Amino acid sequence: MNLIVYRYHEGMAEPRYDRFELDPRPGMTVLGALFEVQDRFDDSLAFRYSCRGAVCGSCAMLINKVPRLACRTQLSSLLAGKNQVSLSFYPAIEETISWNPEKEVLVEPLPHLPVIRDLIVDMQAFFQKYQFVEPVARPTGTPPEDERLMEPVAVRELEVYTNCVLCAACYGACPVDGKNQDYLGPAALATLYRFRIDPRDASGTVRLDRADTGNGWWACEFHGNCRTVCPKGVPPILAIGRARQELKSEKKRGERP
Ligand code: SF4
Ligand code: FES
Repeated sequence: MNLIVYRYHEGMAEPRYDRFELDPRPGMTVLGALFEVQDRFDDSLAFRYSCRGAVCGSCAMLINKVPRLACRTQLSSLLAGKNQVSLSFYPAIEETISWNPEKEVLVEPLPHLPVIRDLIVDMQAFFQKYQFVEPVARPTGTPPEDERLMEPVAVRELEVYTNCVLCAACYGACPVDGKNQDYLGPAALATLYRFRIDPRDASGTVRLDRADTGNGWWACEFHGNCRTVCPKGVPPILAIGRARQELKSEKKRGERP
């Protein structure tokens, strides 16, 4: 098989694609293939990883035009045509290079973030938006002697959002992030909603207010790519839809201007 890899570093006039011929071992992941390229062909190839177990979120990249974690994407499943994913179209997934998905795997950097080198993108804008939603619990009142307890139903409702590993796959899959650099994006909004529904949090309506803007809840166009690509099953589109519904209801009841 061939691994086709996007290459770019500062000073290059244009990015290029390199092809590497590999004989994949059973169970080899895209991340494993990138290590093989580094070991056998080109040790200057740059990519980011840490845990190799789908936990740290640092290896998200565009694989066969779908944002995925390289460490949990097996070459054999891609070549066999399994795990095919259909996304709502956006320019970054336009096919600008021809490749044969039965014999080749195409690996590119995550869209919507500036490329630093090869497959490494600058995550600053993503994390600035995450910081903007102030992702820390703000309980009120006297702290209990033991832990703050929650009803199981409340835990179930919010824990789906706590699974986020901040990989930014959803950010690279969102058509709105691609055309509006100020849009907060799926991950930040899902986290904001996670604190909105946390019964221990005392911020109340402030959480909804934080993104009650044209670049927050209201910018989403409900393409649903965020939910489709999330490797941890987080549904940002659901959080955004619910937040909008809550805002609309509060406005209708005259509880907010
Ligand atoms: S919501 Fe999912 S895709 Fe988005 S950053 Fe979190 S884990 Fe990654
Ligand atoms: S290396 Fe940590 S998620 Fe892939």
